[in-house]
Amino acid sequence: MGLVTATALASKGHNVVLIEKDKAKISSINKGKAPIAEDGLDDKLSDCLKHNCLRAVENYQEMLGTDVTLVCVGTPSNPDGSIDLSYIKQSAREIGKMLGKKTERHTVVIRSTVIPGTTRGVIIPALEEYSGHKLHDAFDVAVNPEFLQEGSALRCYFNPDRIIIGEDDKGAGDTVEKLYEGISAPIIRTDIPTAEMVKYASNAFLATKISFINEIGNLCQKLGIDVYEVAKGISFDYRIGDRFLNAGLGFGGSCLPKDLGALVQASRGLGYHARLLESVMEVNRLQVLKIIQAVEQKLGDLKNKKISILGLAFKPNTDDVRSAPALRVIEMLINKGAMVKAYDPMAMPNARAVLPEGIEYCRSAEEAVRGGDCVLVLTEWAEFKNESLYRGEIVFDGRRVVDPRNAKTFCDYQGICW
Ligand code: UGA
Repeated sequence: MGLVTATALASKGHNVVLIEKDKAKISSINKGKAPIAEDGLDDKLSDCLKHNCLRAVENYQEMLGTDVTLVCVGTPSNPDGSIDLSYIKQSAREIGKMLGKKTERHTVVIRSTVIPGTTRGVIIPALEEYSGHKLHDAFDVAVNPEFLQEGSALRCYFNPDRIIIGEDDKGAGDTVEKLYEGISAPIIRTDIPTAEMVKYASNAFLATKISFINEIGNLCQKLGIDVYEVAKGISFDYRIGDRFLNAGLGFGGSCLPKDLGALVQASRGLGYHARLLESVMEVNRLQVLKIIQAVEQKLGDLKNKKISILGLAFKPNTDDVRSAPALRVIEMLINKGAMVKAYDPMAMPNARAVLPEGIEYCRSAEEAVRGGDCVLVLTEWAEFKNESLYRGEIVFDGRRVVDPRNAKTFCDYQGICW
């Protein structure tokens, strides 16, 4: 998110310094190679470097020559699912120290996803303590949550559905709004905790849509009804719409599961039991078990069975495997004694770094499928829609890569909830 934001701003003519702790990432960025796979990012980044609008540096000192700091650090989960604010706190301390040295007024914009109340309760006090200045005297703070989808993050940046600006001070909000000059989208200006909550409510709603359609899918499967036809049927109601109604293995990634968990934990802290959100997580957790149960039902004991896996990334067009449902499926298969062969067009290096040893990584989908006892499709990459891959195989489709009616004519096919 930081690199996409920095590149997008630099491409709009702003002079951007990207402060990063990881030396390898700094060197890669300064050579025009993004450390993540993101459509169009390398080209845009190289362009910005050529025009000297962007450089990555290690030292916060570089902040001194700038007017605005956008905080894009990660807010991962603690083991209990609550938000881990250590990177936020660390960056607030460092930014605070620099604010103490600045003579010009500065605006700090929080882009990281933080639980409502964090900016006022944690970030601003740290900025004040480490700068020795009071909010509004020498610096202002605004919240500008990001709604970038991995894989199409630059497109999302330049074509947002909306821009949310949380502010305690009109000047800070104006500064953020100016950063979006030339981008056409509704702009909603609100107070800081509301902006923080809009981000959580958005991700929680998207996750709810997915678990909702998966639950309907599980029911449809028992009734012999195709949930994809049901989804199409409901999608024409403009209040429902047709997005995020793809039933399957459920949601993963670095955002939806983490943000939902953080919101549920924050609710508990407030003495409120967020029943709906907990159920959304539970439906998602069980969806992965369904594919394992289906495989066991078909093949019996999985010990020494050869299982072919197509797809490791949490969704197509990314190399990201964070909280990817595929990883959970593979870990369960290995625990049951199965032998796993896997293929993913982009995510194999990242998967190899976190998965247990002993998995055979293949050079193509064909190679992964060959010689296996069954095939599990866990990410809907376009190349997995090729029906000839599955001819004569036992197939468990977690992502609806082929039409089930067709599939049954050339393979032994089962969908996860269709
Ligand atoms: C998500 C949100 O979509 C972004 O708006 C938000 O900015 C971002 O999190 C964030 O908080 O930074 P992303 O994590 O890139 O973006 O992934 P999504 O495209 O939302 O997909 C999440 C998961 O849901 C994937 O595992 C995907 O396979 C699954 N999914 C999605 C379904 O199972 N069914 C669907 O119909 C749609």
